[in-house]
Amino acid sequence: MRTFLFIGFFILTGIVTAYVVGFQTRDGFSAEYDDDQEKMRDQIVIKVSHVVSENTPKGKAVRRFKDLVEESTKGKVKVEIYPNGSLYSDISEWDALKNNNVQMIIPATSKVSQYVPEYGLFDLPFAFNSYDQVQQAFEGEIGKRLLEKVEKREGVKGVSFWYNGFKQITNNERPLITPADFNRLHFRTMPGEVIKDQYQAMGAAVSDLPFNKTYENLEVGFIDGQENTITNIYSKKLYGHQSYLTVSNHSYLGYVVLMNEEFWDGLPEEYQEEIDSAMVQTTDWIRRHSIEMNDSQMRELKRNTDLDVHILLNGEKKEWKETLAPLYEEYENVFGKDLMRELREINGSTGQQGF
Ligand code: LMR
Repeated sequence: MRTFLFIGFFILTGIVTAYVVGFQTRDGFSAEYDDDQEKMRDQIVIKVSHVVSENTPKGKAVRRFKDLVEESTKGKVKVEIYPNGSLYSDISEWDALKNNNVQMIIPATSKVSQYVPEYGLFDLPFAFNSYDQVQQAFEGEIGKRLLEKVEKREGVKGVSFWYNGFKQITNNERPLITPADFNRLHFRTMPGEVIKDQYQAMGAAVSDLPFNKTYENLEVGFIDGQENTITNIYSKKLYGHQSYLTVSNHSYLGYVVLMNEEFWDGLPEEYQEEIDSAMVQTTDWIRRHSIEMNDSQMRELKRNTDLDVHILLNGEKKEWKETLAPLYEEYENVFGKDLMRELREINGSTGQQGF
């Protein structure tokens, strides 16, 4: 009898222990286990792909955007950044966005002109004489219409325009001072019909290679030169196999921030508001800091490289403008009279270009 009682007590203890340790844990009494699961279920991830280094206006701005969003949503929205084309190149990021493999990209406006030709307006030579004029275009009527166009035609959400800087030109053949100096040279450019026509008008050829293939193509001599902002030239060492730099400020390289539309529409309103607010703050930040970064990296280039730097004089610029003027007529039909009128109004205002 005592043996039975002992066995019974033993079994009962086993059942109680199993209930406490096993069933209760699975039913949610283990706070730690379920909290983590809960967080993972609730967390929204925005994957951002871009092609430049972290030490650039865009690289730093996207980092700032991440910090602002994660702080204001208390980590409920996480921003994952893939710089240097590490996830998608400039060629594949557009489709990746449309397929929601990434939720945000920040391509140069020139690259978007492949899908919405009006974005090529920013590439018109000497369209902007100052940073103020670029801001008027990005944050005024032109910017508003172009954000609407990409949404309507391509079904991606146009969020904001971000800033980098005016483009300059390097090559390893000769100083580029007059349009004739471009004759028979071969340049890497971003894709874009206006850019191509601009170089052809000066007697040069272009290849629109991916950004992260530029260095190696300069190295092997497939191309003689390239055009970019100082921060892109500096951070990717695009001066490495080049002898000459012309500070031409001939057109502005800026970005359009794009998001996957379905992803955006599916976000709770409170998160949309926090993301909007982070975007406004970041846009303001990159507008101011991109100027500083291009200026300071220009000083570094002058100090630390053997580049022969020529700053285009006003008289020389006039000759470039005359050679390239026909592009304005040629593209009036593509961009439409309204956008061109807005651009001419902005171009007539005053301001400081830099360098
Ligand atoms: C380029 O391809 O030269 C630029 O678009 C890179 C960038 O994103 O600034």
